[in-house]
Amino acid sequence: MSVDVIILAAGQGSRMKSDKPKVLHPIGGKPMVQHVIDSARGLESARLHLVIGHGADQVRAALGGQVLNFAVQAEQLGTGHAVAQAMDAVDRNGISLVLYGDVPLTRTETLQQLLRIAQQGHLGLLTVELADPAGYGRIIRDDLGAVVAIVEHKDATVTQRAVREVNTGILALPSRLLADWLPQLSSNNVQGEYYLTDVIAMAAAEGVRIEAIQPEHEQEVQGVNNRQQQSELERWYQRREAEWLMAEGVTLLDPSRVDVRGSLSAGRDVVIDINCVFEGVVRLGHGVEIGPNCSIRNASIGDGTVIKANSVIEDARVDAGCDIGPFARLRPGTELAKGAKIGNFVETKKARIGEGSKVNHLSYIGDAEVGEAVNVGAGTITCNYDGVNKFRTEIGDGAFIGSNSALVAPVKIGAGSTVGAGSTITKDVEAQQLSVARGKQRNLDNWQRPVKQKD
Ligand code: UD1
Ligand code: CA
Repeated sequence: MSVDVIILAAGQGSRMKSDKPKVLHPIGGKPMVQHVIDSARGLESARLHLVIGHGADQVRAALGGQVLNFAVQAEQLGTGHAVAQAMDAVDRNGISLVLYGDVPLTRTETLQQLLRIAQQGHLGLLTVELADPAGYGRIIRDDLGAVVAIVEHKDATVTQRAVREVNTGILALPSRLLADWLPQLSSNNVQGEYYLTDVIAMAAAEGVRIEAIQPEHEQEVQGVNNRQQQSELERWYQRREAEWLMAEGVTLLDPSRVDVRGSLSAGRDVVIDINCVFEGVVRLGHGVEIGPNCSIRNASIGDGTVIKANSVIEDARVDAGCDIGPFARLRPGTELAKGAKIGNFVETKKARIGEGSKVNHLSYIGDAEVGEAVNVGAGTITCNYDGVNKFRTEIGDGAFIGSNSALVAPVKIGAGSTVGAGSTITKDVEAQQLSVARGKQRNLDNWQRPVKQKD
C-alpha cells in the first residue's frame, strides 16, 4: 500500500530566537527536518510531502535536490490546516503518516508500527506518558480504555489536565478517512486553530478503531521548541552514537566527551581520547588511535595510524601506519601514503606525501607532491602563492630538505637531492644535487660591539 508522509514544518519556532527556521537547526550536525526525512525514507514506498511556511525559501534551499513535494501553508492556521495543504498530492487509496519537522529522532521502526495499524484500516496514534504533561494535547479514553478524543491543553478541563498520557502529534491512518475529516474541522476552540487532533473524536464517532502505541524511548517523540530542548536531544543523540561505537569495538575514554556530527565508522580496537569531534563522513581503520581534542571531518584514516592531541583534519586521506600531530593541520586535498609523519605545527593542503616521508615540525606544504622517504626539515615552506596564482612544488623520492627552506613554486626538487638549511630555492634542483641558496657566512675576528655613550 502506498504511504504518503506529511511532515509539518511551517511553524515559526519563535522560542529559538533565531533567523534560521527552527527545522533547519541541527541535531548531530544534521538539520532536524532532515532526520525526519531520513527516518521516513526508511519506510517502504513512501512519498514525502513537506508543509512549509515560515522561512519557506530557506527550508526549500536547504533541502534542494531531494525528492520531496513541497506544500506551502501561507498562514499558520493550525495542524489540521497544515495537513490539508498537502492533501491534493495524497493518494486516497493509500495511508497517510503525519510527522513534525521539529520532532527529529523518531525511529523508523516506531513509524512502521503505526503504518501496520493504518494498513488494517485503523488509526494509529503515537502517545507518551509524561511526568509533566503541561502544554500537550491530552489523550482522553472511555471507561473501557478506548481512545475517544484528544483535548488540547488550553481547551482542557481541570480533570482532563490531570491526564498524563499526551499526544505526540504523530499519527497514521487511511488517507481516504483523513481526506473526509479534514474539511469538517472547525476552528471553534481557545486558539482559533484547525486542530488535526479533532480527527480522533471523528474516528471514534464513526467507529474507526484507534490504537495508541508508545515509543521505546521518550526522546523519540521529544519536540524542539527552544535551545534548551535542542541541547537535551543533542546529548541523547550523542550518547546513542557513543554506545553504538563502543558496541562496534571502539574504546571511548569518555563516552560523554565525543561528538559525531555525521557518520563515523571505525574498525576494531580504535581508541578515541576525550573531546574529539567527527564531522561529515569519517572512516577509521583498525587500531587507529586518536588523542584528545582532535577535529576530523570527511576523512579516511588507515589502520594503525596515530593522531596525536589537538590535530585538525579535513577532506584528507591517510593511509595505514601514519603518525600525525600533536597540533597538526591537514587541510583539504591532503593525502598521506603509508607510514608518513606529519608533526607538530605542520600545515598541509592539496599535498600528497609519499610513503615513509616525514614533515616533522613547523612547516607548510601546499600544492605539493612529495615522494617517498623524503625528509622535510623544520620550518620548510612551499611558497605556492604569488598573491593571485597558485603553483606546485614537486619533491622527488629520498630528497632531504634542510630546515628553514623556502621552496618558491613552481619548482622541482629532484630525487635524492639535498637542500641546505635556510635556502630559498627558486630554480629546479636536479636529482642527487646539493643546492645551497643562502648568504655565505663571514666570521670577523675581534668584533667590537657598539658601546653605550655615558653622558
Ligand atoms: C501539537 C498538538 C498537541 C501535541 C503537540 C505535541 C494539535 C492541535 N496539537 O500541539 O496535541 O501534544 O503538538 O508537540 O495538533 N505546524 C504547521 N502549521 C500550523 C501549525 C503547526 O506546520 O499551522 C507545525 C509546527 O511547525 C510544528 C507542528 O506542526 O512542527 C506542531 O505545531 P505546534 O504549534 O508545536 O503544536 P502544539 O500546539 O505544540
Ligand atoms: Ca510544539
